[in-house]
Amino acid sequence: MRVLSVASECAPLVKTGGLADVVGALPAALAGQGVQMRVLLPGYPAVTGALADARAVLSIDDLFGGPARVLAGMAAGLDLLVVDAPHLFQRPGSPYLGPDGRDWPDNPERFAALSWVAAQIAADGAEGWHPQVLHGHDWQAGFMVEYLRRMDAPQVRTVMTIHNIAFSGPADPMRLDSLRLDPARFHSEGYEYWGRISALKAGLIGADVLTTVSPTYAEELTTPEFGMGMDGLIRQRRADLRGILNGIDTDAWNPATDPTIAPYSTAAGKPANRTALRAEMGLPESDGPLCVIVSRMTDQKGLDLVLEALPALRAIGGQLALLGSGDPALESAFRDLAAHDPDVAIRIGYDEALSHRMMAGGDAILVPSRFEPCGLTQMYALRYGTVPVVALTGGLADTVINASPAALAVRAATGIQFAPVTADALSGALMRLGALWRQKKVWARIQRNAMAQPVGWEESARAYAALYAELGATTG
Ligand code: ADP
Ligand code: GLC
Repeated sequence: MRVLSVASECAPLVKTGGLADVVGALPAALAGQGVQMRVLLPGYPAVTGALADARAVLSIDDLFGGPARVLAGMAAGLDLLVVDAPHLFQRPGSPYLGPDGRDWPDNPERFAALSWVAAQIAADGAEGWHPQVLHGHDWQAGFMVEYLRRMDAPQVRTVMTIHNIAFSGPADPMRLDSLRLDPARFHSEGYEYWGRISALKAGLIGADVLTTVSPTYAEELTTPEFGMGMDGLIRQRRADLRGILNGIDTDAWNPATDPTIAPYSTAAGKPANRTALRAEMGLPESDGPLCVIVSRMTDQKGLDLVLEALPALRAIGGQLALLGSGDPALESAFRDLAAHDPDVAIRIGYDEALSHRMMAGGDAILVPSRFEPCGLTQMYALRYGTVPVVALTGGLADTVINASPAALAVRAATGIQFAPVTADALSGALMRLGALWRQKKVWARIQRNAMAQPVGWEESARAYAALYAELGATTG
């Protein structure tokens, strides 16, 4: 089975969040399932610069305002097709933001171009390679389905994965032309969304199958609370929507071999890492649990609730170490807090190696997200014996076994879940954390369970492979 995965980020080359990890991990996970997956990426400097032995496999005279080529090559073990279009992608820094921290004004066209190339490869192939399935991720790939309608590729099937429905890829209807869209399809049954153009909606309307990254989020998407205005459409397409849980890269996230920490294979190895993390973050020694957070700092992640729940953290003698960046108001609130509270330490920025040391050194991780399609950090935490304290939503509901009396009785618990997603409920969860922390045997049991929980890609890779096979079986 030949699949072309279409995405705007891919670890380790370019990453702003979990999307990149998933796109980067799927090809290797699927190779064992008989799926050949190539990844189509925009030619940002970080991508074109990493390509080894690149060769041009397609040239396009006018790709949304300039000439372009599609390059084929390997980078970081990934088999890539890269849209080399300097007028769109040769820009430094974030894949989405200009130097002023705002979205590039031509983002709709930039990712329309990515989607256009995907459709063109579906129709014409690349050096004789013809994908049977186009698998698009998030709004950046949405228009591929729209463009495919006017290409000659009747055999090619499409999958759209929703990693985060909060980003719909909106554009003003004035841009119909520049986005090369068929104006006759700008209506509520097409890609029109509340009076604007939506790339995500184009994908969700037109793709043969929809997936999202956890079973619970698949359910949540059908509700007004989580559907962000697309819930009606999702309800219509419910039969075509599957929730397939993300995995994590269990080689990159393996406490027994992790080169950035003092490696360990049982939780007995954590205290050394905790001591090192405290020293690195400038936190004093303490008998209480060291809670960590590694996160984008946005409304989604509920970090404002942590500020409010701080009295509970103090009450259990806990400490907090945070690594993250994002919303300036949240960043400064945490800066203020750390300046006044010796038991709170923060690092504003993005630091892959420190994120590993946080997982190894933390006793617990806090993930109080208002919504979380899957979430990866709670899975890293499980593997590192760091007890997740998570909101009961999306993938957080599907990956953590709450330490309820029943789960504790059968010794199955791996963490703590709370609902509703409020500061009060988070405070309650922290009090439960404190109580478990004091019962050393129970705590050790939870850590053991957490570390034993499967968090790799095996099962989900099988689910994707089965999905492609089903789609393939329907082609003539
Ligand atoms: P989302 O994609 O919504 O941000 P996920 O939990 O799926 O949430 O993925 C976030 C990814 O980004 C994880 O790999 C996490 O470790 C990483 N990450 C987030 N913030 C930072 C940071 N400041 N430094 C290093 N890694 C980070
Ligand atoms: C999105 C979601 C996150 C998910 C990631 C990878 O960024 O916010 O929950 O884990 O995509 O699917």
